[in-house]
Amino acid sequence: MAEYTKITLDESELPTQWYNLIPDLPAPPPPPLHPGTHQPVGPDDLAPLFPMGLILQEVTTDRFVDIPGEVLDIYKLWRPSPLYRARRLEKLLDTPARIYYKYEGVSPSGSHKPNTSVPQAYYNAKEGVSKLTTETGAGQWGSSLAFATSLFGMECEVWQVRASYDSKPHRKTMMQVWGATVHPSPSEVTEAGRKILAQDPDSPGSLGIAISEAIEAAVADPDVRYSLGSVLNHVLMHQTIIGEEALLQFAKVGDTPDVLVGCTGGGSNFGGLSFPFLREKLAGNINPTIRCVEPAACPSLTKGAYRYDFGDTIGMAPLVKMHTLGHDFVPDPIHAGGLRYHGMSPLISHLYELGMVEAEAIGQTECFDAAVKFARTEGIVPAPEPTHAIAAAIREANRAKEAGEERVILTALCGHGHFDLAAYEAYLGGEMVDYDYPAEKVAAAMARVPEVDA
Ligand SMILES: Cc1ncc(COP(=O)(O)O)c(C=O)c1O
Repeated sequence: MAEYTKITLDESELPTQWYNLIPDLPAPPPPPLHPGTHQPVGPDDLAPLFPMGLILQEVTTDRFVDIPGEVLDIYKLWRPSPLYRARRLEKLLDTPARIYYKYEGVSPSGSHKPNTSVPQAYYNAKEGVSKLTTETGAGQWGSSLAFATSLFGMECEVWQVRASYDSKPHRKTMMQVWGATVHPSPSEVTEAGRKILAQDPDSPGSLGIAISEAIEAAVADPDVRYSLGSVLNHVLMHQTIIGEEALLQFAKVGDTPDVLVGCTGGGSNFGGLSFPFLREKLAGNINPTIRCVEPAACPSLTKGAYRYDFGDTIGMAPLVKMHTLGHDFVPDPIHAGGLRYHGMSPLISHLYELGMVEAEAIGQTECFDAAVKFARTEGIVPAPEPTHAIAAAIREANRAKEAGEERVILTALCGHGHFDLAAYEAYLGGEMVDYDYPAEKVAAAMARVPEVDA
């Protein structure tokens, strides 16, 4: 093939199945436990939160799950998404590495999140649910769910983490354009929010707090369900459409990645890109290194403990075995709001324990430095979350240069940063700070993690 920049697929090549990694693993991840009884949760325990269609996907042992036709039709609004070769960035870095990025910012809300918000809204609508509640950190997930519910004629109520509610007012407006109601979190409208505000009236919020509020609102009404934008098995499975497309795109140009790097908040864009490649690795067809990248201010994988903890701050969500910094740990307000989660997807945590994925943590100044280099060569202004992935890709490209090796690097550019310019303003104005690892705050939060015999 001649010098290509963008590798595209035709709509007719859109994959028609999601991939479920779990049956291909030596053992499944440990089960979620009921927050009160500490016994494994069954479908009935989850029914007040999720529709049965998604509960069954959460526990399915099928390797592949058909994507419903109605979901595929909506996916075609932005999918297949392009895979780019970052030739201009490679040139700037003067590296022998070949850098590829799969760009998910082409979706209506600007990130990978509609890959799961659309099927989640679809399965809820099919079971007669009239409204979904959710949390949002960066505002990307809330706007993606607002977009999806608008297509299915459902209501949507979003708790947006206070730090991002204040810094990204236009994300809120975007959610309202799609018909959603938006509250800053912690809010006065839930008991969970009021409890946090009583302890700390200036709380910047956290994903864990916003999840508690959205769950409380959902369980209070039998016609309402809750929707989570990351962490759970079915969410990661929906995102595998990214990796399935990328495999086809690599095949088109006859190349193979040696290293995959992706940012991890709850693990969904990383899992979505990497799981199909991991399947091919387990089958002995390819052998890439697969690495998670997390913020130094919230390093659940590299510094957290692998144990059962609550998925939310108040302790209403099931206990899951994951790398955690403690369910009531409130990370410093880094700009990558979507990476400010105290835990990690249990599936990614399990892979990390099995040694199937690696992890590294990077401070936000290095990330924005990388993002500005990227924007000035490739043109796209990345969302704060994938700046971590770009910084890791650049580290890898520099290592390839030192070693004089032609390494092939693949990363997920999982969203654009058009609503995140305040972060770039801080960086360009020299006002961005790096937060040290908050060892004392984490130790205090870890002391409140429940003891579970499992
Ligand atoms: C653009 C973007 N990337 C990444 C993330 C982190 O989530 P995940 O690890 O599930 O991809 C978020 C979360 O809000 C996000 O908005």
